[in-house]
Amino acid sequence: MTAAPGGNADLAALGALAEAIAREAGALLLDGFEGVRTVDLKSSPTDVVTEMDRAAEALIVRRILEARPDDGILGEEGADRPSRTGVRWVIDPLDGTVNYLYRRPDWAVSIGVEVDGASSAGAVFAPVHDELFAATLGGGATRNGRPIHVSSEARITHALVGTGFGYEAAVRKMQGAVVARLIGEVRDIRRSGSAALDLCALACGRLDAYYERGVHLWDIAAAGLVVREAGGNAETLDEAPLTTESIWIGTNGPLYRDFRALLGGASGLDPRSVC
Ligand code: IPD
Ligand code: CA
Ligand code: CA
Repeated sequence: MTAAPGGNADLAALGALAEAIAREAGALLLDGFEGVRTVDLKSSPTDVVTEMDRAAEALIVRRILEARPDDGILGEEGADRPSRTGVRWVIDPLDGTVNYLYRRPDWAVSIGVEVDGASSAGAVFAPVHDELFAATLGGGATRNGRPIHVSSEARITHALVGTGFGYEAAVRKMQGAVVARLIGEVRDIRRSGSAALDLCALACGRLDAYYERGVHLWDIAAAGLVVREAGGNAETLDEAPLTTESIWIGTNGPLYRDFRALLGGASGLDPRSVC
């Protein structure tokens, strides 16, 4: 007989395990932060992976399987195991690899937990900042153990907006054109280099909204839940399942309608084409 179905999952225990593993992988990455790296290319000449991304993923996978050998795993660096429990771990071992490579501080370990396909727990650990963002479904969101909440800004003209850019030049040019259209309509725009940390910034009021085309499930699996549990929205612009063409959008709630309109309808463009 296989392990208990996902419906009986103890979210607090899954969340605690995600936090502990994220901290351990973060410590491993911090140890190597000043060291020499080997770099391989992925989807484009600027899409890189270091041996540290791979080492962190290997550690995370090992720890998950030690504790929960029948769970599924999806990892950016190749982990792909089916689940026999209804629980699947979605991991980005190092979100913000280019920052890490340049020894910039904004990078994180992101570990999300799905139960029967629903995002149910997650942890995002930023070692240089020593900040751990965490959430469980229905249990709220925290930063270093303290509850966090999205901002209450309702004026689009005052919204501080985060975004990110893909690794392909053609997509980046299109994304730059969108930024040029948005920047006169909002307070300002930030690009940190870590989608997970952008979403955590939204969750604790350091941003009012966030959007990005082409994020992957591992970028947003944990931090999307952190935003929702902090009182905001985080979903695709068309509210359909995430694909490589999707635009991921997060807001504090009060800005939801206006920000969606700004991204798409207000500019008279198909929302799918603008980001
Ligand atoms: C990237 C970062 C970046 C975002 C890209 C992601 P990676 O993840 O989150 O902020 O703009 O879309 O791919 O490659 O550093 O794990
Ligand atoms: Ca990532
Ligand atoms: Ca990564």
